[in-house]
Amino acid sequence: MGINANEFKDIDPGERILMGPGPSNVHPRVMQAMSAPCVGHLDPYYLSVMDEVKVLLRFLFQTRNEMTISVSGTGTAGMEACLANIIEPGDEVVICVNGVFSARMCDIANRLGGKVTSVEGEWGRAMDQEKVRKAVKGKGPKLVAAVHAETSTGACQPVVDLAEIAHECGALFLADMVTSLGGMDVALDRMGIDIAYSGTQKCISCPPGLAPVSFNERSMEVIRKRKKPVVSLYLDMGLLKTYWDNDGRAYHHTGPINMNYALREALRLIAEEGLEPRFARHLLNHRALVAGVEAMGLSMLVPEGERLPTLNTIRIPDGADDAKVRRALLEDFGIEIGGGLGELAGKIWRVGLMGHTSSRRNVTLFLGALETVLKAEGVNVRPGALEAASEIYGEAS
Ligand SMILES: Cc1ncc(COP(=O)(O)O)c(C=O)c1O
Repeated sequence: MGINANEFKDIDPGERILMGPGPSNVHPRVMQAMSAPCVGHLDPYYLSVMDEVKVLLRFLFQTRNEMTISVSGTGTAGMEACLANIIEPGDEVVICVNGVFSARMCDIANRLGGKVTSVEGEWGRAMDQEKVRKAVKGKGPKLVAAVHAETSTGACQPVVDLAEIAHECGALFLADMVTSLGGMDVALDRMGIDIAYSGTQKCISCPPGLAPVSFNERSMEVIRKRKKPVVSLYLDMGLLKTYWDNDGRAYHHTGPINMNYALREALRLIAEEGLEPRFARHLLNHRALVAGVEAMGLSMLVPEGERLPTLNTIRIPDGADDAKVRRALLEDFGIEIGGGLGELAGKIWRVGLMGHTSSRRNVTLFLGALETVLKAEGVNVRPGALEAASEIYGEAS
């Protein structure tokens, strides 16, 4: 069958300001690194890149964990890798569920044959710790898991306290850090988190395709003592270790070479900025956005004190058409934001301020654009959003 190649035009998506739940905007240096020549997956040059990725990821996760690598696949592959390596059929698992991604953890844990207890929490709120403590005490689980930054609701979970609850009964604690790593203080060793995973496309500001993961020694010991092999060969940490370890270095799968170039560059940018200034930047832009949104007369879903600086959830005001507003922001201003998921569909907008996207310029553009679009829709918005945001930046300078 013939094909006319001229029908397929050059890829040209245009400029976008990515203020949705991810991916975030990617720094040009990261795209440039990605286009460096591809070498073999066991080429000494690529192996040195893998070594540097490990060092840089340990810096970002603030951990000494030897087994800190990038899994080939998106955040869900990280989630699956962490759960599949720990859970064996019949193992008791407790999962804190108050959003789409924690529900996905339950789905995977069930597929693995785990005996899953889901502790249900309110969407848009932090988990009730006493509820979790009660569930854990009754079960004596092997693993307790929670999502640090629930991208579907914008709520931050108290992972330090949850880790403590898990450890009180001898369980391992797993945290999903897909929307926190690179934008919030994620310090695995200090926070008592045994296992964590993330994704590259959120606060690390790299294209999607890799999942940073970290396992501490205690969790690696649990993996070594498994009765049965990990069901997934591709995500088996024991096998992956042979590919990522300095001594040995055996083929496991063909590493996504250029994706790891990109990740290395994105992590190098983070190291240049420094962790503290980076977290402070995310917090400041979040505060300015909230001040602007509230000055307009709109309200946030998550109460103050439980909000993520990286993902802001705004209640859709009466009279506004969710899809129409998002389309106008994209078509007229090139700004992408997200709609609600699951039970929050049609009720909230999700505005990401992650990594390279988190800037004063983008906060100001978004507030101006949202005000314009809502006014055109006939929604009653108060003036003063830009001034309110400006005030926050003024206080900080
Ligand atoms: C908190 C959280 N966990 C897991 C995932 C799954 O990641 P991915 O879509 O990269 O597979 C996402 C994606 O948005 C997420 O926000």
